[in-house]
Amino acid sequence: MNTKSYVEKNKDRFINELVELLKIPSISADPAYKDDVIKTSEVIKNSLLEAGCDKVEICETPGYPIVYGEKIIDPNLPTVLVYGHYDVQPPDPINLWDSPPFEPVIKKTDLHPEGAIFARGACDDKGQMYMHVKAMEYMTANNDLPCNVKFMIEGEEEVGSESLGWFLERNREKLANDVILISDTGMIAKDVPSITTGLRGLSYVEVEVTGPNRDLHSGLYGGAVANPINILCDMISQLQDEDNRITIPGFYDKVEELSAEERAEMAKAPFSQEAYNKALDIAQEHGEKGYTTNERNSIRPTLDVNGIWGGYTGEGAKTVIASKAYAKISMRLVPDQDWHEITDLFKKHFESIAPAGVKVKVNPHHGGTAYVTPIDSLGYKAASAAYEDTFGKTPIPQRSGGSIPIVALFEKELNSKSILMGFGLDSDAIHSPNEHFGVWNYLKGIETIPHFYKHFTEMSK
Ligand code: BES
Ligand code: MN
Ligand code: MN
Repeated sequence: MNTKSYVEKNKDRFINELVELLKIPSISADPAYKDDVIKTSEVIKNSLLEAGCDKVEICETPGYPIVYGEKIIDPNLPTVLVYGHYDVQPPDPINLWDSPPFEPVIKKTDLHPEGAIFARGACDDKGQMYMHVKAMEYMTANNDLPCNVKFMIEGEEEVGSESLGWFLERNREKLANDVILISDTGMIAKDVPSITTGLRGLSYVEVEVTGPNRDLHSGLYGGAVANPINILCDMISQLQDEDNRITIPGFYDKVEELSAEERAEMAKAPFSQEAYNKALDIAQEHGEKGYTTNERNSIRPTLDVNGIWGGYTGEGAKTVIASKAYAKISMRLVPDQDWHEITDLFKKHFESIAPAGVKVKVNPHHGGTAYVTPIDSLGYKAASAAYEDTFGKTPIPQRSGGSIPIVALFEKELNSKSILMGFGLDSDAIHSPNEHFGVWNYLKGIETIPHFYKHFTEMSK
């Protein structure tokens, strides 16, 4: 049986199995969900065994376990290493969900007339990771597995993959492979398949501004002492100039500039600014002068406040000057910016622009390195051929604005290229309320993946 008929025959079961997986709230950021995260690793282990892996183990780490599985059919054949994550983002704000985040429902949408599964993790990344488990099931059940396979599914991607770095260093041999296959990104549109050829890096920091030693009456003291919230807003606004360029000295020094040809090539991808604005309900786009929307969100670095708090935010009004104000700030980085260096530059600059009336603390969180992969590698060509088989179209290479910090580390530690075959849409609302994954996309992913194995094995000969 070919992959298309197998998917057609088993689609209801494939959907039901994913729905069950989505019911477990594997929120890695919140310690209250520890047992659920661990339980999810066990469910993945069993699904890999059922899909035909010969050996599956739950590998303990200083953090959440990594599920490792393999089927080695012949050491002389190539080995594909599949990476994915079983942890999910917190569902907050919960009141903005139309249905509970861990009670999956299937609903039709304009872009998903066949239905989409609504649940936290549906697209990022349980749904996309599970496509690989089901593709494996197809290959083993139909005697259609052409090479060796290894699976490495982690539970800390959404919190920085710290244990995975630890695991890589200790298991280079075990994880040896010829290509790494990942579905944790998106594609341009259902009729415009694309392969992600770049990811941005990240520097994430938290800042704390302290004014007076206690909260003050805003009438008795207002106007005479620095208000940390006012000051924080002022400092943040200074981080970008009128052209929306970041003002941190040295920030752009190492940024890779694309050639006019490369930018012209990028601009060929189908895109409508009007549809983009309409989908987001915005009157106008916004960003760094001299760049298009698709350049701003992929090949250019950014600085965004992710959260800001302090003072009184409860019901009604309270007249107060808070002692402290806070913000969480992320900087998306591009090749060849070094995230440690950028974090240092930020810290120095942010401290230097603080007025004397406040104290400023910068606490670095996690970070990650950007990634770009060429389109003439064996892995890229095999992926391209796979999409041609199932979509009848050559996929477009596309650099994404998101980050999967571990991908740069794979190249460094395991010396292999990662191929990013994502099947989600930008509108699938990952990390947001009402995250969903199109049933069509899910099934198309399962159908396409085995074609990658076939082409990669043939091209490796
Ligand atoms: N799967 C996403 C990254 C992604 C999504 C890349 C869509 C490209 C297209 C991943 O789970 C994620 O959310 N990464 C975080 C970084 C991480 C260190 C928390 C991100 O990009 O914010
Ligand atoms: Mn993800
Ligand atoms: Mn994510």
